[in-house]
Amino acid sequence: MLYYGSFGRKAFIPMALKIINIVGARPNLPKIAPLMREMQRHPEIEPILVHTGQHYDATLSDIFFRQMGIPAPRVNLEVGSGSHAVQTAEVLKRIEPVLLEHQPDLVLVVGDVNSTIAVSLAAVKLGISVAHVEAGLRSFDRGMPEEINRILTDALADYLFVTEEDAIQNLQKEGRPRESIHLVGNVMIDSLRYFLPTAQKSPIGEDLGLKNGAEWQRFAVLTLHRPSNVDATEKLAELLTAVDAIAAQVPVIFPVHPRTQQRLAQAGSTTHPRLKLIPPVGYLDFLCLLSKAMLVLTDSGGIQEETTALGVPCLTLRENTERPITISQGTNQLVGTDPRKILTAAEAVLAGKAKPGRIPPLWDGHAAERIVEVLLRKSPPGPHRKSALPVT
Ligand code: UD1
Ligand code: UDP
Repeated sequence: MLYYGSFGRKAFIPMALKIINIVGARPNLPKIAPLMREMQRHPEIEPILVHTGQHYDATLSDIFFRQMGIPAPRVNLEVGSGSHAVQTAEVLKRIEPVLLEHQPDLVLVVGDVNSTIAVSLAAVKLGISVAHVEAGLRSFDRGMPEEINRILTDALADYLFVTEEDAIQNLQKEGRPRESIHLVGNVMIDSLRYFLPTAQKSPIGEDLGLKNGAEWQRFAVLTLHRPSNVDATEKLAELLTAVDAIAAQVPVIFPVHPRTQQRLAQAGSTTHPRLKLIPPVGYLDFLCLLSKAMLVLTDSGGIQEETTALGVPCLTLRENTERPITISQGTNQLVGTDPRKILTAAEAVLAGKAKPGRIPPLWDGHAAERIVEVLLRKSPPGPHRKSALPVT
């Protein structure tokens, strides 16, 4: 057997650090894009992308690959939709043979979706290290499926990459060792900074009649998809009364998530003509809208961060957030779901009394570089690794 390297007279090829990167749902894509780009810059890393297929509509998946230049996944597990148990179990079942075939040194997961926990569990049971990007965020609301996914993934991961200081305390309180926690910044904001100049050339303003020449009119953006807000039709209808009242003042652009689409018909409300319901839009169009909006109303996790990075006022229609830095430092306000409170907060913003904010430390576009640097420092590639197969 011939090895390339420096073990006696035999040579060893220092095998690359093989990393399987996982995506499943829409918000995973802007997080993985800068990581794949950074890993591809390093010949000592072999990045493999696997899509679980949790999200499969072109508007929630393919368009992001195209617009962000994410390489096509090596494997798509095509798990599709299902109950939490079914979806999680399908990912667990289908990822195991992929991990066995590729024998990665590390599995990298992002965020807090069902695919995140399912792959982490399969990997650790095979003795494969897990890196969790966006670790330590806590809403302290176990009614949120994502909170369960976060707690469990963080309990399993060897590398905990965090976006904000609070996450360090949260993880330490749960007994995670300080040396496994790395404050690296925010990969979602890496994407935002990288793609913003391109996004601002998007024709979406003209398409939606929001732009006249170079002039944008005042408008708001709305997204809703948390089960607690949209699964009960009465709650969704109640939220829409506040949105209707806002639409009486400015156009509200509402790209509708498929979960919400299914419930809207049942909510049975006739909405204000200036509330524009549209299908989910691609990343570049959405980033363009966010950056030009006077006001954003959302229950999304990632959009709370993106508005803070853009300095755009955000009203979060939830009782809690796992991203407190967007409140303590950013432009985000937690307004809850009472329609009167939403309307009052929105009117204040429209009257020019938005909460000022600043961009949190390390949300500077370089988080992916820091993550890759830690991975290479702590897990250097080389023939001693179990995946370093001899070359004959
Ligand atoms: C999931 C994540 C949530 C994340 C959101 C981002 C979990 C538990 N939830 O929620 O944390 O904020 O993605 O958007 O992982 N559907 C389609 N087309 C698709 C995918 C889904 O029509 O491509 C419909 C299906 O009817 C499905 C429903 O949307 O049942 C919900 O999809 P699912 O992936 O289960 O949860 P999300 O609400 O999308
Ligand atoms: N997004 C998008 N088009 C849309 C709505 C959202 O490109 O119509 C992007 C948004 O900019 C962010 C990500 O999708 O990058 C957030 O995903 P989502 O709100 O679905 O998930 P969450 O962050 O709540 O888990």
